[in-house]
Amino acid sequence: MARKLVLDCDPGQDDALALLLALASPEEIALAAVTTVAGNVPLELASANARKILELAGRPEVPVHAGCARPVLVPLSTAEAIHGDSGLDGVDLPPPRLPLASEHAVRTIVRTIAEHPPGTVSLCAIGPLTNVALAFLLEPAIVPRLAEIVVMGGAIGLGNVTPAAEFNFWVDPHAAAVVFGSGAPITMVPLDLTRRVRLNPERLARIRALGNPVARACADFLAFYDARCRARGDGEGAALHDPCALAWLLRPGLFRARRARVAIETEGRFCRGRSVVSFPADGDPAEVRLLTEIDAEGFFELLIARLARF
Ligand code: BDR
Ligand code: CA
Repeated sequence: MARKLVLDCDPGQDDALALLLALASPEEIALAAVTTVAGNVPLELASANARKILELAGRPEVPVHAGCARPVLVPLSTAEAIHGDSGLDGVDLPPPRLPLASEHAVRTIVRTIAEHPPGTVSLCAIGPLTNVALAFLLEPAIVPRLAEIVVMGGAIGLGNVTPAAEFNFWVDPHAAAVVFGSGAPITMVPLDLTRRVRLNPERLARIRALGNPVARACADFLAFYDARCRARGDGEGAALHDPCALAWLLRPGLFRARRARVAIETEGRFCRGRSVVSFPADGDPAEVRLLTEIDAEGFFELLIARLARF
């Protein structure tokens, strides 16, 4: 049976692709709501981009709830340098006609988990963790009811904003610390894994060749994202960070995982947002399922097959 999912995101081209993967996968995922958070771009743009993607996919019934417009304690830092001024540069989608849902994203997360039986709702968080942290603080009783929370963020090795930190955790380190200290059943999708899933001209051409309007739009916005990443020194091509989190929900067999302990550095001159990962001895408690390996070819086969459905 399809699992009920709330997708918390800050689109962003890779968020948009993750959202499309979810929409194209009704056997595995029943998307209850999309919640948006400030991250790659300010909240208003992220919320508009999520609605543009839903309209592009012909799925206006999925509600979009706007959440927090800034991190808990630090000022907002955005990533237009990678994603373009709109957050979804590379494609010219019409302004959304769909209104935003009236409920705040934090309340939507709480309500959705609370109104379904324990263990039946999953969260997938692919932006800064501000909304999720506030939901856990507002109603701690939802934490043990979660089936799973899949978090794209953090790194074991080098970060992508600073040597120490990955973007989502760096933008709101305090929120990440709340979530990783909550006892929730976390699956962490770190940069070390997502950097193995890269765009290249052949993969982009395969997406474009699918020929449907959604795949063509994806090829356009992914080409922009790839060019920006390459121009900024990522010669191996753009990493598809956020779709990896969705792929875990669709095909866990594509991945290898390890039990780990993860603490988040919230302060420090050099290490703000660092995920400090350790691997406990067998039998010792470990709170996080850390994804360590992915079958990148299998991932692209899955992505292509799902985009072909539009
Ligand atoms: C993460 O940061 C954002 O730029 C991407 O959308 C992804 O969620 C990767 O560090
Ligand atoms: Ca994101």
